[in-house]
Amino acid sequence: MPQNKKRILTGDRPTGPLHLGHYVGTLKNRVRLQDEYDCFFIMADLHTLTTAATKDKTGSITDRVRGLVLDYLSVGIDYQKSIIYQQSRVPEVTYLSTLFSNFITVPRAQRVPTLKDVMHDLHIEQPSLGLLNYPVLQAADILMVKANLVPVGKDQQSHIEVTREIARDFNKGFGEVFPLPDAMIGDGGILVGTDGQAKMSKSIGNCIYLSDDTDTVNKKVKGMYTDPTRIRPTDPGHVEGNPVFIYHDAFNDNLNEVAELKDRYQQGTVGDVEVKTKLALAINRFLDPIRERRAKYASQPDLINQIIIEGSAKARLEAQKTLDEVLTVMGIK
Ligand code: TRP
Repeated sequence: MPQNKKRILTGDRPTGPLHLGHYVGTLKNRVRLQDEYDCFFIMADLHTLTTAATKDKTGSITDRVRGLVLDYLSVGIDYQKSIIYQQSRVPEVTYLSTLFSNFITVPRAQRVPTLKDVMHDLHIEQPSLGLLNYPVLQAADILMVKANLVPVGKDQQSHIEVTREIARDFNKGFGEVFPLPDAMIGDGGILVGTDGQAKMSKSIGNCIYLSDDTDTVNKKVKGMYTDPTRIRPTDPGHVEGNPVFIYHDAFNDNLNEVAELKDRYQQGTVGDVEVKTKLALAINRFLDPIRERRAKYASQPDLINQIIIEGSAKARLEAQKTLDEVLTVMGIK
């Protein structure tokens, strides 16, 4: 692949369907940057093993990878412009990860904040070496294609920091092989859940998925958490920090309607039902083209397979090139 544009690498673990939080946090940026950058979108199945290395949980990785491709295509990631690939089909990345593990200390890896979060959330008492190595494998993903930019959600920022440190140390020892990649965080930040919790997350069960149908969205929005201090529609309500209005701001393209609803809410002249009905309509309006693209690709399973296989073959060529260069400068080859 001729490298005239700068490069992006980012992606997701195939652990389940993507939701509106992913859209706000990173997908929107990815779609927007596809023309300006050469983009690599990784489906990081090896990373899923760091917290689920048992047969029953890994059995359906292939299905989840295919689901992830559909999510990507549905939001407008274009497989003809960008490379969508499956991490395990590029085994060179594990070789690079092994080499990179020599450029980070154990205490540094233990200080990565996501480690503590994952251990807490999943009740893990001691991390496996694989889990400790998670950011190193991610660094290998990113540096393997010499990416310049990594659009991710805010929770991933510390991994990009580790990546930069590894690249810096490697370059110091062996010459300027790797560019230092920058993280790009979505301006929507972290989207709150439908229940008002700080984060939309599959494990909490407070998500609206990109693949949800109209009725599901209607139901979820109807049950959303709003302003707990407001009892009657005539009570003046709070807009700031209210999930229903955070979603209006993120997804309702009718800005006049949003401004008017906020106004009336604060004055106590609109009920939650109307605010939510209009929100559900807006989210469904937002999701409709996404649903249409999904339906188009879902009916072409062979194309999905082909995208994964061909994308992975292209990514592998880049990986081989980088590994070759790394081994050469290290004097291994
Ligand atoms: N760790 C990322 C997540 O959980 C997924 C991921 C793996 C990734 N490799 C990557 C993201 C490389 C960006 C770049 O969401």
